[in-house]
Amino acid sequence: MERITNLKGLLIEQIRELYNGEQQQVYFLTNVLKQTEHKELKSIIQNHIKETQEQIKRLKNMLNQLFISPIGEHSEIMKGMINEANDLIDRSASPKIKDVIIISSIQYMKHFEIAGYGSAYAYAEELGRMDIADQLHISLSEEKEVNNLLSDIALDEINPKAKTPRLV
Ligand SMILES: [Fe+2]
Repeated sequence: MERITNLKGLLIEQIRELYNGEQQQVYFLTNVLKQTEHKELKSIIQNHIKETQEQIKRLKNMLNQLFISPIGEHSEIMKGMINEANDLIDRSASPKIKDVIIISSIQYMKHFEIAGYGSAYAYAEELGRMDIADQLHISLSEEKEVNNLLSDIALDEINPKAKTPRLV
């Protein structure tokens, strides 16, 4: 592993981590799409799979602009979040609680990405690379937007429905 000596090095590291994390999420989102019957949740996930595919293209484009190979970084954090999510999904005893788990699992990932894209955006801006910063900002806005949509359906209907059956 090469040493990170400056902000540009850290920007590259961050973009590569985001790139790998997004790829892992395409598989995860495609998998959870099959696990819910909730129409609105399904459509949010479906749209976000398309967005994620565009985010991957954007990150690849940024790496090309920085003359960096996209291969080599593996996001252990994303892998851990996906493992945790799959474990909770496997243990869910009803579709109602499964929907809650799907939403919160995706939101964990969105918060992680908001931090990642937000930091990378700040580094690119500081470095005067607005060609990179602008692309990061598009993805940052998408992550925030999907997080808000998920919060809305969770609070309005999916969480309340999962209060029953009460076992304790
Ligand atoms: Fe993403």
